[in-house]
Amino acid sequence: SSVNDDQYDYIWKVVLVGDSGVGKTNLLSRFTKNEFNSESKSTIGVEFATRHVTIKGKTIRAQIWDTAGQERYRAITAVYYRGAVGALVVYDITKRQTFDNLGKWLQELKEHADTSARIMVVGNKSDLRHLRAVTQEDGRLLAEKHKFCFIETSALDATNVGEAFNNLLVDIF
Ligand code: GTP
Repeated sequence: SSVNDDQYDYIWKVVLVGDSGVGKTNLLSRFTKNEFNSESKSTIGVEFATRHVTIKGKTIRAQIWDTAGQERYRAITAVYYRGAVGALVVYDITKRQTFDNLGKWLQELKEHADTSARIMVVGNKSDLRHLRAVTQEDGRLLAEKHKFCFIETSALDATNVGEAFNNLLVDIF
């Protein structure tokens, strides 16, 4: 990047939420490092990574937080959501249960995140089309119902990953 690492106009916190295994860590590593790990372990605690994005001539330092979808790590909830201006709410298009659980994640966001936080619903693993268990229409309708944006991504083949983060950041702007 040609941008000096400590020169930016805004610093924005974005959180990743969703069930364990939907691909949150890999979406983060794809977006911030262009990396994918097919054997990634479940996240323990909280991690974050940053990437600079330019929108309308302003440099935004996007600080993206990732945590475990597993219930036993949920104690850190309040700190995790504090100050977040956006959230990617992720499910796995091959696992219906991860889509059915979105209500739980949206409720948690409602309780802990700022009411002005922008939300994007993300159906990940679009490369596994032969295993699809949630139609694109299902995802789109759920997002529409809440007036959120919606996108399908693949952290594996990189489809729409940049778009997911960028569209959310543009929406926040
Ligand atoms: P927790 O940390 O437990 O909450 O999981 P997570 O949501 O961070 O999932 P993670 O990124 O660790 O990915 C879980 C598994 O799914 C790993 O084996 C990844 O390689 C795989 N995976 C993630 N994204 C994709 C994708 O877009 N396509 C495919 N085919 N596999 C993916």
